[in-house]
Amino acid sequence: MALKDFLTVLDALIEQATAAFATAADAEALEAARVEFLGAKSGRLKAVQKDLGGVDKADKPAAGKRFNEVKQDLEALLAAATARLSGGGSTKSAEAAFDPTVPGARARLGHLHPITQTIAELCDIMGRLGFTVAEGPEVEDLWHNFEALNIPLEHPARDPLDNFYLATAAAGAGVPTGEGQWLLRSQTSTVQIRVMERTKPPVRIISLGRVYRPDTPDATHFPMFHQIEGLLVDRHVTMADLKSILHLFASSFFEDDVQVRFRPSFFPFTEPSVEVDMSWEGRWIEFGGAGMVDPNVLSAVGYDPDEVTGLAFGLGIERICARRHGIPDIREFFKNDVRFLQQF
Ligand code: PHE
Repeated sequence: MALKDFLTVLDALIEQATAAFATAADAEALEAARVEFLGAKSGRLKAVQKDLGGVDKADKPAAGKRFNEVKQDLEALLAAATARLSGGGSTKSAEAAFDPTVPGARARLGHLHPITQTIAELCDIMGRLGFTVAEGPEVEDLWHNFEALNIPLEHPARDPLDNFYLATAAAGAGVPTGEGQWLLRSQTSTVQIRVMERTKPPVRIISLGRVYRPDTPDATHFPMFHQIEGLLVDRHVTMADLKSILHLFASSFFEDDVQVRFRPSFFPFTEPSVEVDMSWEGRWIEFGGAGMVDPNVLSAVGYDPDEVTGLAFGLGIERICARRHGIPDIREFFKNDVRFLQQF
């Protein structure tokens, strides 16, 4: 057999096989095409292979080479057709399924937790009033959480039932007293002490962060919550400054002329001390405590109470955020339910 005739047969075979595999409408039709062209016993490729024996000896290498190419092509065509019918994989069908005019699927963006957003905004507002942000540790010693804040050993605020003391080697029964004992801070007022210990007056700082108290969770309590602490120490600081700062702060955050009310109260580290209420839809809501820094506290950090006076306040950030968004229960902030968090 002449090489030319052999190659013509192969060309016809590949042409017909291409058409057959491409038009096979289902798995059955494709299988029939496979048997016809690639069948091991009586397939057409097999028949052509027999013809190869009759090709002139000198032309055998060229004929064999072409035969192998056609065989590989047929197998590739079969694989592509199989992928097309099984619904994917082949580049051809993926291209057909891609419609560039369909609007894209947007990636879902996360965002900051509402408490974190509130903290950022409070920092911004207080920053405009000249307060810089200070930080302190969440695990505190007894000096910063109590002693320096004028909370003596026998004070009920030190009760183990009201604080998360850490288990230490020195811990025994009763109220922990001394060195090497730690607790999760129960208030951000600790940072007042830390800042005053390392800076000379005037001081004008806020500190925002987590505090811990073993409270039973309810709509307005949680064992961990956040406070914003403010401290201003300078000459001639008065209670009037305290009230006007809180009024400016509240009106700016709530974008409303919020009324601020002081009720007489007691904190060991302020004298006088007040509870801070703010108006909300005709009601008064308690946001925290405030007062003039007690002279004992100023002395404890080496300030001269005859030279400077100070104002301080500590407000609950969950309550501030809840009032802004009308959230009736602060426990929502800590459930991490995306349906709730998505709204902010
Ligand atoms: N530390 C007080 C509390 O946790 C709040 C407070 C801060 C009161 C500063 C007076 C001055 O309730």
